[in-house]
Amino acid sequence: MPETILWNFTPENTEKAGAVLRQGGLVAIPTETVYGLAANAFDGEAASRIYAAKGRPSDNPLIVHIASLDQLPALVTEVPEAAYRLAERFWPGPLSIILPRSDKIPDQVSGGLDTVAIRMPAHPAAAAVIRAAGVPLAAPSANLSGSPSPTTAQHVARDLWGRIDGILDGGACEVGVESTVLTLVGDVPRVLRPGGVSVEQLREVLGNVEVDQAVLHRLEPDRTAASPGMKYKHYSPRTRVIIVKGGFAAFQKFVGNKKDCAALCFDCEGEQLDIPFIEVGREHDGAAQAHLLFDALRRVDELGVSTVYARCPDTQGVGLAVVNRLLRAAAFTVVDLDGAAVIGLTGPTGAGKSTVAELLQKKHAFAWIDADQTARGVTETGSPLLPVLAGQFGEDILDESGALLRSRLAERAFSSPEKTALLNRLTHPAVTAKISDEIARLSAAGSKAVVVDAAALFESGIDKLCSFTAVVSASEPVRLKRVMARDGIDEESAGLRMKAQLSAAEYEKRADVIVRNEPPFDLAAETEEIYKRYKELTENE
Ligand code: TXA
Ligand code: MG
Repeated sequence: MPETILWNFTPENTEKAGAVLRQGGLVAIPTETVYGLAANAFDGEAASRIYAAKGRPSDNPLIVHIASLDQLPALVTEVPEAAYRLAERFWPGPLSIILPRSDKIPDQVSGGLDTVAIRMPAHPAAAAVIRAAGVPLAAPSANLSGSPSPTTAQHVARDLWGRIDGILDGGACEVGVESTVLTLVGDVPRVLRPGGVSVEQLREVLGNVEVDQAVLHRLEPDRTAASPGMKYKHYSPRTRVIIVKGGFAAFQKFVGNKKDCAALCFDCEGEQLDIPFIEVGREHDGAAQAHLLFDALRRVDELGVSTVYARCPDTQGVGLAVVNRLLRAAAFTVVDLDGAAVIGLTGPTGAGKSTVAELLQKKHAFAWIDADQTARGVTETGSPLLPVLAGQFGEDILDESGALLRSRLAERAFSSPEKTALLNRLTHPAVTAKISDEIARLSAAGSKAVVVDAAALFESGIDKLCSFTAVVSASEPVRLKRVMARDGIDEESAGLRMKAQLSAAEYEKRADVIVRNEPPFDLAAETEEIYKRYKELTENE
């Protein structure tokens, strides 16, 4: 374990940091975007230590930082004219340009790719350290892999103290999100990661610029990422983050009905809410939001709630980078308050929730999602969740073709309450995100309301996506008979199955509407209570 030194940014300390870097050490340095964890870009072994310190997958390449344009030609096999035009306009600054790499760049830096990303940072401390080191510096963001990028020396210290040789403290980073990553390899320049330089600005210089599909959309399983960093979960607090699209009035109403949650909202909005909040800049000011975002994401876990609802910024200018980072923090879970109303439907087994969902579908044309089926989908072969589960529960939960052996996983996961909780913590966010995709699809296809039928609505957190929730309820003897008849099982097995769920009282306590499905209640009339609630909700809008 190295002894980490914290240096203030002075000429003397800059020289010291430069010397450590020349000798193959690791130093965190401030840049205008975020803090970077630097090493000599020509030293493959030093670069390997970066991956180890961050816990970063080694196929994710590093950006090489230079202090002047004359350092560029040695790093790449050719410098297209477009690169010079971009450098002229945006360097030093928050733009990384991908070019074909020269053989001076070790494999460890390029993650095995035949290209390399180059950037000239604008922060005076970064430029001074590169000069002091006398070599270009390979530097990813100076955070532990998976956590938000650091925008202060304190953030770096929290993640990497004892794992690196030094931290040069240059104060808070101005831009706050990482550089724009643009590739010039290929026919049309393409943004792989939006950042401090906006797509609009790039188009002013280059004309045609594409934005990679992965910037705003989840990668489909098995599709290779143009930028390896895009495929990893990023920027995530432990608290679940859900992005909420729509106006502030609708947001206020939506969170007003929720417990155990907080808001990530725009300036002047927090005090109008009755829940804890963090404000992240003015509504249409992408630059201000970018500056505050990562610090906010680091503080989210201090709010003491299970879910934080984030107002969705617009994608103009640097706003695109803010939305891109938020989507990753939220694992792409989005609620659209301008879209279909979402009704969470649950209840203990045998109460008849599917019957209720069907009634709503027939009578009111509500769409219907079977969450159990969706849940099975997240563990399909090729799903990014499978390697994560294999890492935790053993590689042998997958067969040779990579398919999940469900019973083996179940055996391992249900062997202790801790392991069951771990399985849930890993799978529930993926299920919720997928349900949010299905809701968006049904909403885009014209559904005015979507019923999400989920036995574990509350346990899985799917209720967090819903405008309101309803429970279908029936007394225990009635349910017992129904389960025995439906599944052809004896009283004992039916009883066991019922015991594994929340108690009926627990369901009723948590739900907004209760639908009684047993005599003397009339199920059609009871179900209309859900419709009435939906009407109330949508009418006074
Ligand atoms: O602002 C920034 O860019 C900061 C500061 C320290 O300069 N650095 C930074 O580095 O954010 P890092 O490693 O956290 O992110 C680099 C991103 C990753 O998503 C990586 O996959 C991508 O750039 N990248 C780097 N080289 C690439 C290449 N040759 N081809 C495709 N993507 C590349
Ligand atoms: Mg990073």
